[in-house]
Amino acid sequence: MSAVEVALGLRSYEVLIENGLLGQAGDILAPLARNGRLVVVSDENVWAALGPDFLAGLGGIRAEPIILPPGEGTKSWAQLAALVERLLEAGVERADHIVAFGGGVIGDLVGFAAAILKRGCHFVQIPTSLLAQVDSSVGGKTAINTQAGKNLVGAFHQPAMVLIDPACLDTLPRRQLRAGYAEVVKYGLIGDPDFFAWCEANGAALLAGDPAARLHAIETTVAAKAAVVAEDERETTGRRALLNLGHTFAHALEAETGFSDDLLHGEAVALGMALAFRFSAERGLCSTADAARVAAHLESVGLPTRLPVGTGASLAAQMAQDKKASGGRVPFILARGIGRAFVDESVDLAEVAAFLDRQRLTAPAVTA
Ligand SMILES: NC(=O)c1ccc[n+]([C@@H]2O[C@H](COP(=O)([O-])OP(=O)(O)OC[C@H]3O[C@@H](n4cnc5c(N)ncnc54)[C@H](O)[C@@H]3O)[C@@H](O)[C@H]2O)c1
Ligand SMILES: [Zn+2]
Repeated sequence: MSAVEVALGLRSYEVLIENGLLGQAGDILAPLARNGRLVVVSDENVWAALGPDFLAGLGGIRAEPIILPPGEGTKSWAQLAALVERLLEAGVERADHIVAFGGGVIGDLVGFAAAILKRGCHFVQIPTSLLAQVDSSVGGKTAINTQAGKNLVGAFHQPAMVLIDPACLDTLPRRQLRAGYAEVVKYGLIGDPDFFAWCEANGAALLAGDPAARLHAIETTVAAKAAVVAEDERETTGRRALLNLGHTFAHALEAETGFSDDLLHGEAVALGMALAFRFSAERGLCSTADAARVAAHLESVGLPTRLPVGTGASLAAQMAQDKKASGGRVPFILARGIGRAFVDESVDLAEVAAFLDRQRLTAPAVTA
C-alpha cells in the first residue's frame, strides 16, 4: 500500500492508495468509528455500484448510509440543508468522522457539511471517480454551487484521511473516466514533462482499465497535489493556483453550457488546457509545437480541444465573474512549455475574447 502524507502540521493526514483497499476499509477506519458506527454519505449511482462491496469491507463497523441524488445539482443549498439536518438527526458529534463515499460532488458537499456541522467535525474521503481520486479528495477545498456560479460558497476543511481504491474505477462510466483523465494530464502540463510523456505512452492503457497504469497515475498525481497543498494550502502564494491550468476557460465554457452534461468538468478542462497552450503560443511564450502536442494527446483519447459553444465576448463575460477576477483582469495560468506553467496576472479579458473569436474562425466546432 502506498501512503502519501499531506503535511499540514496539526491538520496533516495520509492518503492511502491500493487496489482492493475498499476490502480493508473496516480495519483502517475502526479507530475512527466512535461506538463502532460510521455515517456514510454517497450518491445513488455509487451506492448501487459499490455499496455492497463497501459494506462488506467495513466488517464489524455499523454503517448508517445517507444516499443522495447523483449529479452536480446535489451541490446546492437545498441538499446541504437537508444533509446537515440528517447528520444532526443521526446524532453526529464533533468527534465523529463522516465518510464521503463518491465522486467530487459528494466529496465537496460532505466536506462542507462537515466544516459547518457543530462548527466543524471530522470527515474521511473515499473517492470513487478518477477526478476525485486524483484531484478533489485531496486538499480540503469544499463547496456548493449557487445561482451566481459554481463553488462560490464553501470552506477550506481538510479530511482526516483519504482512502483511494483504484478498483472503484471499474464501475465508473467511460465518459466520466475520460473526463477525469484530463486532470491527470494537467499535472504533467503544469510541472512534470516526464509525466506528460508517460501519459502520451500510457494514457490509452489507463483508460482501458490497466491496473498498473491507473495506480501509477494516481500515485504520481496525489503526490504532486499533496506537495502543492502542503506549500500553499489556501492558494495565497500562487503555487496552488497552478492547479487551475485550463480552468478559467473551462469554468466559462461550463457556465455557457449551463453546467449540464453537454460538457463535463474534465472535458471542459481538456478544452481549457488546449486553449491555454494555444494562447501561450500566440503570445510567444511557448512553441506552437508544444501547443499542438498537448491538443494531439487529448484528442487521441477522445477529449475535446475545439470550442463547442460561446463567442469570445460571452465567454470573457463569464470569466469576469470568476472568483479571482478583479478590474477586468483574471489571473490566467499560461505556459512557457510543457511542464512549465505559471500565473500571468497581466492578461486582459478583451485580448482573451479576441483570441477565442479567432479560435472559432480557424477551428471546426465539435460538440463534446
Ligand atoms: N474540491 C476540489 O478541490 C475539487 C477539485 C476538482 C473538482 N471538484 C468538484 O468535483 C465535482 C466533479 O467531480 P466528479 O467528476 O467526480 O463528479 P461526480 O461526483 O458527479 O461523479 C461523476 C458521476 O459518476 C458517478 N460515479 C462516481 N463514481 C462512480 C463509480 N465508481 N461507479 C459508478 N458511478 C460512479 C457519479 O454518481 C456521477 O454520476 C465538481 O463539482 C467539481 O467542482 C472539486
Ligand atoms: Zn478541475
